[in-house]
Amino acid sequence: MAGNSFGQLFRVTTAGESHGPGYVVIIDGVPPGMPLSEADLQPDLDRRRPGQSKVTTQRKEADQAEILSGVFEGRTTGTPIAILIRNQDQRSADYAEIRDKYRPGHADYTFDAKFGFRDYRGGGRSSARETTVRVAAGAVAKKLLANIGPEPGRGVRVVGYVIQIGDIVANVPDPAAVTLDQVESNIVRCPDPVAAEKMVALIGQVRREGDSIGGIAEIVATGVPPGWGEPVFDKLKADLGKAMFSLPAVLGVEYGAGFGVATARGSQNNDFFLARDGRIVTATNRHGGMLGGISSGMPIVLRCAVKPTSSLPIEQPTVTRAGEPTTISTKGRHDPCLLPRFIPMAEAMMAMTLADHYLRHRAQCG
Ligand SMILES: Cc1cc2nc3c(=O)[nH]c(=O)nc-3n(C[C@H](O)[C@H](O)[C@H](O)COP(=O)(O)O)c2cc1C
Repeated sequence: MAGNSFGQLFRVTTAGESHGPGYVVIIDGVPPGMPLSEADLQPDLDRRRPGQSKVTTQRKEADQAEILSGVFEGRTTGTPIAILIRNQDQRSADYAEIRDKYRPGHADYTFDAKFGFRDYRGGGRSSARETTVRVAAGAVAKKLLANIGPEPGRGVRVVGYVIQIGDIVANVPDPAAVTLDQVESNIVRCPDPVAAEKMVALIGQVRREGDSIGGIAEIVATGVPPGWGEPVFDKLKADLGKAMFSLPAVLGVEYGAGFGVATARGSQNNDFFLARDGRIVTATNRHGGMLGGISSGMPIVLRCAVKPTSSLPIEQPTVTRAGEPTTISTKGRHDPCLLPRFIPMAEAMMAMTLADHYLRHRAQCG
């Protein structure tokens, strides 16, 4: 009921708050025998970690994962995998002001409206720190996906990157060709180095102004065979949409041509089928890799619009819990732009969704 679990066969449950002792994720459904250790989880956790560069929050967290169960002698046993990540750099005093005031654009008011009682230290369950353990689970899903198919390690690959910050748009001619190395070559995680430089400057400027800025992330899965996904309620595009909208600060998700289809004609929008190297492919990929909710074998391409961070050092009008007008300026440490740290989170959610649909497809269709 309370919605802390995601997926059916690759099932992930998280617990924890940003200013409690730490977070736990339990991953159920990972097949036995897959090599797995903490070292597999750390690279993505380091990409998500706060304090990693001048364009992120300066909060310091080591985010070291500890595998508590489900792995024996370096291999998964098929039993639930529990992963613990402890919080370290909690400064609850930073959040004293938000105890009785509602941050504009944040979840303080809606949490009070729903629960009548909230952990105000950094947003409790609404904090993006909850995604730390999702990123750990996503790394497990990525490893499972990478080993699908004839060549271990070269199966399904998920890579995300920043394509827009404010009005700076990156030039990415072929989403499926973007490599992790290109993404990680700069601190904004944009594969277009010219745009990346301008994005870094823009984020620096908004930070100095005490403000924040939004943007768009593009997440791409390659190597997904045709046939994953269900035809009706559990369409792959529906589950990926839920996965992305479950991340904090996401206000829009689109696939392939996305909202551009609204002004297109069918004759322009259709992707024509053709046979290539014994496979059926499409000449273009405006459908974003899914037709009828089922993967087509073309790269899955989705984009998330991510809002600017709502907590700001500059003063803004709001009300107290009693409805009295007041002002608020948030003293905690915040990302001036969420996009660079959002990338590993979105990759993790895409990987988990694909791992779930891989196991579901295998269970029904062999
Ligand atoms: C990487 C990342 C870091 C975030 N850090 C902050 C933060 O420091 N301060 C803040 O106000 N919101 C932050 N957020 C966004 C809030 O968690 C989110 O806006 C809030 O929970 C309300 O949810 P909603 O925007 O989805 O409606 C962050 C989001 C992401 C993706």
